[in-house]
This record gives sequence, structure tokens and C-alpha cells, in this order.
Amino acid sequence: MNKETVLTGITTTGTPHLGNYVGAIRPAIEASTKKDASYFYFLADYHAIIKCHEPQIIRQSSLEVAASWLALGLDTKNAIFYRQSDIPEIMELTWILTSITAKGLMNRAHAYKAAVSENEDARSNDPDKGITMGLFSYPVLMSADILMFKAQKIPVGRDQIQHIEMARDIAGRFNHLYGETFVLPEAVVDENTAVLTGLDGRKMSKSYNNTIPLFIPEKKLRKLIMKIKTNSQAPEEPKETEGCSLFQIYQAFATKSETEAMKKRYQDGIGWGEMKQELFEYLNAHLKSPRERFNALLEDPGYLEQVLQEGKKRARDISVPFLSQIRHAIGISKL
Ligand code: TRP
Repeated sequence: MNKETVLTGITTTGTPHLGNYVGAIRPAIEASTKKDASYFYFLADYHAIIKCHEPQIIRQSSLEVAASWLALGLDTKNAIFYRQSDIPEIMELTWILTSITAKGLMNRAHAYKAAVSENEDARSNDPDKGITMGLFSYPVLMSADILMFKAQKIPVGRDQIQHIEMARDIAGRFNHLYGETFVLPEAVVDENTAVLTGLDGRKMSKSYNNTIPLFIPEKKLRKLIMKIKTNSQAPEEPKETEGCSLFQIYQAFATKSETEAMKKRYQDGIGWGEMKQELFEYLNAHLKSPRERFNALLEDPGYLEQVLQEGKKRARDISVPFLSQIRHAIGISKL
């Protein structure tokens, strides 16, 4: 029986934070040690250049993302770990898919529509102001990422579900035009993975600038935790765990029994200062050794590169023959 194929991409425009870790990296790494499916994880650097035009940030982020995943224990013997830009077949497939994708489908993409409505709200006379073709056809590139490896299950956040549905549409259209070629992918959204709140109480997100980076030095980690917003309840007062960012972050790392014990301390009236110190110590103990590995890996880009080159080779063993089959299907081949 053929194994199921699971694939996901990580856009390289920043350094991973606690929210990324809990919501995406940790579940993906845990899965990567199982042999029940084939796993493809990649650095989506050609997605990154759509939103970020600073080469230094793209480069540094690719390095940090790769180092983070390895430091946290990604099993690259099992999972195929590669860089999107190392697989030229993805770019070629992007054009092929672009040629059969209805413009109307892209008009309906949430990310594009949000950008247009921002322009309308700002009363700009150009609704497409600042919108590149890259942003507009982002879902086509994402479809190529997925369809290239016949991926079936795509673990993503809620905001990406529409993109996976678009990949299905595009795959279906291709199959209809040229015969069964692509596998129709499905989004997998894990309802159980925590969505962390950030320093200000909103969802932890790069775009809100409220994140706690995973591997900042100990002192800075402590400083950021001290900054997390709390209510103004006095020490000694019994406190609610529900809706408390400190508790929620603690819970995302702690075991069940530790969490229960902490609940009790809330009822008994733990002070915010004390809780922040606890949270810092807990996180720091948890992150200490991966942080050391992360820092060592940053000093050894040659090693990271070698891992990515191995991933590239394994990925291209699949993409090169499949692309030639696709080209053949559309009538582009040697005479
Ligand atoms: N767009 C995804 C995000 O921002 C990243 C991504 C790129 C991706 N290509 C992908 C995710 C393919 C899943 C499959 O999170």
C-alpha cells in the first residue's frame, strides 16, 4: 500500500516564535518521527519574496528557520526537508498551472481581497495599489508546491484553507483537460493545537509585532515574559486561568499534571510577578538545550546547507520525472 503524503511549507520572512512552535513546528516535528506517511517540509523562500524585498532578511530567515527545525529535532532521514528555490520544477509547474487557472478564482482569494479592501478603505483611486502579481497569484505557486509531490494532507492554519481548496480546483481542472495527473490535496487543521496569545493579548503573530521569539537569549526571554499583559488583580486574589495569556503559554508546554497543579495555584491566588517568574523558568528549562543547538547550527551554515542539499536530491528524484510526464501531457516534449 502506498503511504500517505503530508506536505507543508514555512515562509522565510522572520524568526520562529513560540506561537509558530506550538501551532506548527512541534506537531510537524512529532509527526516526522513516525513512519506511517511520507513527510515533505520546505522553506518557502519564493513565497517569502512576495512580501519581503529585503535580501538580508530572506537570507537570515532561511538560515534561522532551517536551524530551528533541526535544533528542535526534525528527523531529516525520514522527512524530506528542502528549500523551494532548489526545486526548479516547482517554478516550471507554476507557469503551467498559471496557464489553466481562472483569473476569477484568484480574484476571490482572501489575501488579495483584503489588500484591495484596504485600498478602498484608504480611498485610494487604484484598488490594486501596492499589489504585485506575486501576491495575486500566490495560490498558484502554493498549488505547484503541493501538486508537484502529489501531497494528500496539508497541515495548515485556518487562514490557509482557502489556498488548499484552490489547489484542489486547479488540480481538478488540469486532470479534466489533460487526463488524471494530479492528486487532489486536503487541508488538515488541527483543532487541538493551541493558538497562543502574544504580549498584548492578541493572537501571537509577526504582523502584530507581539511575539516571543523561540530562541532569544535567556535574559531577553525573561524581559519579554515580564512584559506580557495581565489584569490588575492583586497578589493573593484567586485568579481565572481562562483567558490568561501566562497560563495559556504555560499550558502549551507543561504536562497535564503540571497544568492541574498550576490551576490550583491560580485559585490560591498566585501573584502575577510570581507567575511570570515561574513561566520564565519553565520555558527556559524547556528551550535551553534546543537553544544551544540552534546557536551552534547558526555557526555552521555549511552543515545546514548539506542537509538541504540532501533534501533537494530526494525531492528532485520525484519532481524531475513527474515534471517531464506533466510536460508530455500538455504537449511540450521532444519532436
Ligand atoms: N502560505 C503558507 C503560509 O503562509 C506557506 C506555504 C507555502 C505552504 N507553500 C505551501 C503551506 C504549501 C502548505 C503547503 O503559511
